[in-house]
Amino acid sequence: MNITLLSVQMVTVYRGGLPIRRHMSIVTGFEAATAAFLRFGGRARTMSALMQTYARLPVTFSHGQGVYIYDTEGRRYLDGISGIAVNGLGHSHPAVTAAIREQADKLVHTSNLYRIEAQEDLGTALAQVAGMDSCFFGNSGAEANEAAIKIARLFGHNHGVKKPAIVVLEGAFHGRTLATLSATGNRKIQAGFEPLVAGFIRAPCNDIEALQQIATNNPDVVAFLAEPIQGEGGVKPLSREYLQAARQICDHRNWLLMFDEVQTGNGRTGTYFAYQGLDVAPDVVTTAKGLGNGVPIGACLARGAAAQVLGNSQHGSTFGGNPLACAAGLAVVKAIMDGELCTNAVAMGELIVKILLERLENTKQFKEIRGRGLMLGIELHKNCGELVKQGLDAGLLINVTDGKTVRLLPPLVINEQEAGELANGLADLILGFD
Ligand SMILES: Cc1ncc(COP(=O)(O)O)c(C=O)c1O
Repeated sequence: MNITLLSVQMVTVYRGGLPIRRHMSIVTGFEAATAAFLRFGGRARTMSALMQTYARLPVTFSHGQGVYIYDTEGRRYLDGISGIAVNGLGHSHPAVTAAIREQADKLVHTSNLYRIEAQEDLGTALAQVAGMDSCFFGNSGAEANEAAIKIARLFGHNHGVKKPAIVVLEGAFHGRTLATLSATGNRKIQAGFEPLVAGFIRAPCNDIEALQQIATNNPDVVAFLAEPIQGEGGVKPLSREYLQAARQICDHRNWLLMFDEVQTGNGRTGTYFAYQGLDVAPDVVTTAKGLGNGVPIGACLARGAAAQVLGNSQHGSTFGGNPLACAAGLAVVKAIMDGELCTNAVAMGELIVKILLERLENTKQFKEIRGRGLMLGIELHKNCGELVKQGLDAGLLINVTDGKTVRLLPPLVINEQEAGELANGLADLILGFD
């Protein structure tokens, strides 16, 4: 028996970012089956074959330009979250688009069985920027952190520690793989996935004495892993004093100091890596998110003894550092280093904070504002998850983390007028939030 699937779809034609025409189109077969899952207009899916791992907002985006992104109905939104710190250079950045096109024209993937020129170039560029000696590429933040965790464990074993442990922080977020969720300091993320991976010791944030206590009581510790500013945990910065003390303890105890800069890296806080603004040099740093401006790539960089730990066949990834991802990464690193993006992140971050304080300080809703550069958290006195949908309705993409904190991670290319639009739009939302 032959079954032909037929579906009628509304198609929007765009020119110069604006919808110019909508017409009906009849689609068949696979397209029709897919279209049958979509409600006309594309605002919401009524049924889906996807696992229910995300509480998605009822919007689908079709294209973007700079700090603006457009939904399938042609409505424009100011992107205050950049795909959670991913599109640092904004949407459709010409240099990244050109690099992807050019590389895709030549070669998308080979294998780590062979030398990859773009991977070597990106590794060298990143190592130089970070003050590191070696680099391993994966495809995500969690994978970058897995590499760091493996380096720490192997480093421990090489020094005769049979059960190496890593100190991690309360409220930390390091990813969703088994090792990284075990390192994460949030029970909600771990619940149901026990037994957790062993070998993590939890410490309170910004508590130097507690870290010293752990050092005294645990001879098996080999490393300390932390985000310089906790992102998912509510945009909570670790203090300069704490991180410098951690560096001293690491030196004294022969631990590796490892920073997770998956979210804070790539210019987000006003320096390429956040630690560069804190005068603390880690032994290992991981990054991902903004590195590919949307093309999946993650990196684990190491220096000194840590740079030599992983040897032949001790780690690997099929896709990690493939020519396409590295071409995008190279364009990103070059744009951040050659341009004024770090300076802009600081200036625009300050402008946003100034406007928000002018409008929100001493109001009943506002508690405090935290963060650096264009990584900002605005804590309110009560849970404010509803603001995300209200923001969407107002044409503003924002995010709420840790219940009460609105998180802003706009593209680093944001200009004064756009920063004003974002800050004032958010202030309006918060003031209207009772
Ligand atoms: C600090 C930090 N580490 C790790 C991760 C995990 O990255 P990914 O989702 O790319 O695996 C994230 C993601 O939000 C993060 O913010």
